[in-house]
Amino acid sequence: MQTRTVSTSPYKDQAPGTSGLRKRVGHFQQPHYLENFTQSIFDSLAADQRHSLLIGGDGRYYNDTAIQTILRMALGNGFRRIVVGQHGYLSTPAASLLIRKYQLDGGIILSASHNPGGPQGDFGIKFNTRNGGPAPERLTNRIYQLASSLEQYHIAELDPVPLHECATYQFGDSRIEIIDPVGDYSDLMEQLFDFELIREQFAAGELHIAYDAMHAITGPYAREIFQQRLGAPQSSLLNAEPLSDFGGAHPDPNLAHAEQLLAIMNQENGAPDLGAASDGDGDRNMILGRRFFVTPSDSLAVMVANAHRIPGYREGLLGVARSMPTSRAVDRVAERLEVTSYETPTGWKFFGNLLDDGRITFCGEESFGTGSGHIREKDGLWAILFWLNLLAVRRQSVAAIVASHWQEYGRDYYARYDYENIDSSIAEQLVSDLRGQLTELPGQRIADFVITRADDFCYKDPVDGSLSEHQGIRILFGEQARIVVRLSGTGTDGATLRLYFEQYEPPTGQLELPTEEFLQPLVEVGENLLPVCQKTGRSGPNVIT
Ligand code: G6P
Ligand code: ZN
Repeated sequence: MQTRTVSTSPYKDQAPGTSGLRKRVGHFQQPHYLENFTQSIFDSLAADQRHSLLIGGDGRYYNDTAIQTILRMALGNGFRRIVVGQHGYLSTPAASLLIRKYQLDGGIILSASHNPGGPQGDFGIKFNTRNGGPAPERLTNRIYQLASSLEQYHIAELDPVPLHECATYQFGDSRIEIIDPVGDYSDLMEQLFDFELIREQFAAGELHIAYDAMHAITGPYAREIFQQRLGAPQSSLLNAEPLSDFGGAHPDPNLAHAEQLLAIMNQENGAPDLGAASDGDGDRNMILGRRFFVTPSDSLAVMVANAHRIPGYREGLLGVARSMPTSRAVDRVAERLEVTSYETPTGWKFFGNLLDDGRITFCGEESFGTGSGHIREKDGLWAILFWLNLLAVRRQSVAAIVASHWQEYGRDYYARYDYENIDSSIAEQLVSDLRGQLTELPGQRIADFVITRADDFCYKDPVDGSLSEHQGIRILFGEQARIVVRLSGTGTDGATLRLYFEQYEPPTGQLELPTEEFLQPLVEVGENLLPVCQKTGRSGPNVIT
């Protein structure tokens, strides 16, 4: 095996966002673009962390080409053990697990998560470290710095390595292992949840699920877990065949994009007990009951409140964490359980230290992500199995479980408004104008709401003391309500402005109103503070979740 050193010149736009480097496929196809970024990842690692590497992706367009390039570069950079998912497949949660289980130095995951795929779609590359979690900011900053001045990369001369069968190939001192991407992950799920109970209720026809894999990576995982191990009928699974363009759809499990599943769950008669979906790389989840949507923030709170009913979590909880824009519902449960609830910036990477340090057991985000200490990524199928287990234990509907939660803790009505693809300069101006008013806002009354505090969220990691500034603007109206404004870090076109609205209603209040109706006055306050429509000429948000 020959290794070549190739001269290159740096690209200046290789700054990783909320979750790795994400661009249009065409952008990645520019000469040396992928190679440069991959070399920068390798160069960012200490010599003793360049021994073993996991590689896999969500099966989207360009996955296979990129994997062959990265494989050759890993060999060219002296990695001795390279583990690849069969067909190049690995869900993000499975990748996190495998890095931990096989004690690898890290992993490269190829995915643009919930963004559309195909030749005109998006592609992405992210690096996870030894703990199985996303690279922390100090590492992504370092990667960016290296990429901005890169002059060469190393690559082995090699024919494409066949990925369709599990096998081991030896090249000099280096070994490439093609492994089953599904088995270890399914085994872990079987340890955490009561598969026997779920299996019995499936067999007795007492429990039904509809799971939408959205033609993305979780199809093979869902077949193994729901069909093979739990005995659910084949008809429970929708879109379980991974396709490189996700069938032309948008693999984002939310009310706007999971239409087919929504139609099933909204049927007058015969809808399953649980409707669920996951995204492109399998780390997100959406939970639906019959004609009922569980907001991700409520889902996290309900899971924490019910953790003692689930085998893997009977021992009790260390603490919980939520990203700042996630509603405060979980804080109320944590308070009752007398454990700490941490508030972190958006991005799963901020949970890693808290999990590694034994401070939390559960964590979650409003962006359809929930997880626990079992791995260092959010985990779509895990969250869905948690709910399935909960339904089997409580023998109640999703709606009844959530309603009883609200009766106990009160309800945090919640909605996120997304203004996608707006001109970056307008978006930045809007945010900086609001930032400029922060000191004047406290004490102001707008309609029935009095601002008690306004700040630009800054997070000091309690474990390593690192500071992350400008993580979103928080406008607090006491304990009653909150508006959060931030720019998305995952878009590939223009800017996406997100407005998050939440308002608390105590157990004695009105718990069953439509969210839109209940939040309308607060949304008007938001428009008052941030004139998005006026400045962009839009009539409203593109997506409300
Ligand atoms: C990815 C990250 C999440 C994050 C989400 C939304 O899924 O893994 O941690 O919450 O993106 O990020 P954004 O910056 O677009 O709001
Ligand atoms: Zn994802």
